[in-house]
Amino acid sequence: MGKIADALDKYMSEKADYEGRQYASENELIKAEERQIVSSEGLIQEHHFSDKLLTLASPHSITAEAFKIIRGSVLYDKNRNAPKAIMVTSAFPGEGKTFVASNLAISLAMGLNENVLLIDSDLRHPSVHDMFGIKNPYGLSDYLQGKNDISEILVKTNINKLTLLLAGMQAPNPVELLSSKKMEDFINEAKNRYSDRFIVLDAPPSQLTAETNTIANHVDGIIFVVMNGKAPRASILHTVENIGREKIIGVVFNGSSMSYKAYNRYYSKYYK
Ligand SMILES: Nc1ncnc2c1ncn2[C@@H]1O[C@H](COP(=O)(O)OP(=O)(O)OP(=O)(O)O)[C@@H](O)[C@H]1O
Ligand SMILES: [Mg+2]
Repeated sequence: MGKIADALDKYMSEKADYEGRQYASENELIKAEERQIVSSEGLIQEHHFSDKLLTLASPHSITAEAFKIIRGSVLYDKNRNAPKAIMVTSAFPGEGKTFVASNLAISLAMGLNENVLLIDSDLRHPSVHDMFGIKNPYGLSDYLQGKNDISEILVKTNINKLTLLLAGMQAPNPVELLSSKKMEDFINEAKNRYSDRFIVLDAPPSQLTAETNTIANHVDGIIFVVMNGKAPRASILHTVENIGREKIIGVVFNGSSMSYKAYNRYYSKYYK
């Protein structure tokens, strides 16, 4: 069995009470019983989850540790309440939004109390489903177009307390869909209905799409991903002003060449 399966097995055995009860007992909005696209042991054993889900694959790696730090900063900043709806964006494509959103969602969900709904709101270039090794037959775009109820399209994972809302079928009008009242109502309802639920939105790149700014209006906090050496400084500043500096709760510098040697020294000293 591979690393991911081992990590999951270990985690699942520590959380033996998991039977999907959280969602089965909830009402219409967040209920994933009708159509569970994924939730099978088999899927994990076949290693369909991406190795990029390092919070699962290598829970003691420098990256997994970094996500625990980000999780702590999201949850326990004494200067503000923990944001219930968090958008992850970047100035340009390919800076690591999906990587950060997915790993952060897992890290939050593996905490003690938090239920997490990870939403792929990048309707132009959806990829959360790839991270989790599943198909993308229906999702947010289908809900926003009125084709499906939410209860039909939530994807329960066998990661404790983590539910996915994939992007769904490509729509010709992502700006309109994501700027709609239905989207606003959905985010508000999803985050307000339960006190222990966090929503993480994998958003499109904000320099290139209009919808990112609209989603930003509806969330409580924004994590801004900056890929080392990718976006020019001026673009980053411009984007930060555009989406609203006051909502940015953190910046993730991705792909930096932080000293792995230094980390390993620290790691081996304390944990081996
Ligand atoms: N810190 C990291 N460690 C390892 N791989 C990474 C890291 N950050 C990003 N990647 C990989 O780089 C590629 C681009 O990242 P990702 O898809 O998360 O970017 P994105 O901002 O969501 O892109 P897009 O705008 O196209 O949706 C992916 O293959 C991802 O797994
Ligand atoms: Mg992406």
